[in-house]
Amino acid sequence: MNAHPAVLPRLAQLGGKEPEFHQLDIRDRAAIGGVLEAGFDAVIHFAGRKAVGESMSDPLGYWDTNVVGTMVLLAEMRRTGVRTLVFSSSATVYGNDAVAPFDESLPTAPINPYGETKLAVERMLEALARAEPEWRISSLRYFNPVGAHPSGDIGEDPNGIPDNLMPYITQVAVGRRDRLRVFGDDYDTPDGTGVRDYIHVVDLALGHMAALEYLAHNSGYRVHNLGTGRGYSVLEVITAFEKASGRPVPYDVTARREGDAAQAWADTQRAEAELAWRAERDIDAMCRDAWNWQRRNPNGFGNEP
Ligand code: UFG
Repeated sequence: MNAHPAVLPRLAQLGGKEPEFHQLDIRDRAAIGGVLEAGFDAVIHFAGRKAVGESMSDPLGYWDTNVVGTMVLLAEMRRTGVRTLVFSSSATVYGNDAVAPFDESLPTAPINPYGETKLAVERMLEALARAEPEWRISSLRYFNPVGAHPSGDIGEDPNGIPDNLMPYITQVAVGRRDRLRVFGDDYDTPDGTGVRDYIHVVDLALGHMAALEYLAHNSGYRVHNLGTGRGYSVLEVITAFEKASGRPVPYDVTARREGDAAQAWADTQRAEAELAWRAERDIDAMCRDAWNWQRRNPNGFGNEP
C-alpha cells in the first residue's frame, strides 16, 4: 500500500466531515460488493499500482491488481446497480514514439506492463459500454500529476526512494536526499532534458468532478486527456522549484533512464470542449504547493526519515 492512515484525520479537517473509509483489497469481491451495497451514484476508481519499474519485475502483480481488480469492481458495480465510472488511466498508453501534443485519437502503444494494464482496462471499459448501453464510463489519461493541496496538509509521500521527479526534488530541497540525478541531457528537446506535461493535483481533482458532470449528461464510453497542454523540461522544473522554494536543488546529469521518452504533453482540446474543464494552476503554483507540503512535513506522513 502506498498511502498512509494519517491522511484520514487531515481529510476530515480539510473537508469538515469525517470521510467513511474501508480498507479493502480491490480483488476481494465480497468486500467490494459489501461496500457497494450501501448504494452509490458513481465510482471513481483510483485503486491501482503505478510504478513502471516495478511493473517490469512483477507483471503478474500488475495484471492482477489493475486488470483483475477492475473486473471485480465492474462485476460488483453491475450486481449492485451502479453504472457510472471514472477510471484513472495514464498518458503512458500513448507509448514513446508518438509526437506531442498527444490527442486522444492517436494509436496506443504502451511499452511496459504498467501501461499495458491501463490500456487493457480502457479496452475492457469500452467493450462493456458498447455491450451494455446503460453504462456511463470516463477514462481520464493523466499526464504528470504534481503539487499538493495548498494547505500543505496532504501531499505526496512515496514509499522509499521516489521514482518521480517532483517528490525527488522536494526531498533534496528539504535535506532528505543529497542531489537530484537528471536522467539525460542529450534528448532532442530545447535544453536536452526530458519534457513533460506537469499538472497540479488540484486541477486533476477538478477534472474528475468535470468528468462526473459530463457522465450525468452522456452515456457510453469516452477518453479524455488531463494535462495542461504545455511541456516543461527537467531543468525548467528545477529552476521553477528553486524560485518557488528559495532552496537550491543540486543535481548531476547522468545517463538516460531506460524507457523514458524525450517529450510528452497533452492536446487538451477534447477535455476543454467536452468537460468544460482546463487546468488553471501553473508550474509556479505546482512547485509552491509541493514545497509547502514537504517543508511542513519533512518526513511525509511519518515514513522513514
Ligand atoms: N527525471 C529525472 N530524475 C529523476 C526522476 C525523473 O531526471 O530522479 C526525469 C525523467 O527522465 C523525465 C521527467 O523527469 O524526463 C519526469 O519523470 P517522472 O518519473 O516524474 O515521470 P514520467 O514521465 O517518467 O512518468 C509518468 C508517470 C508514469 C507514467 C508515465 C508516462 O509517473 O506513471 O508518466 O505517462 F507511466
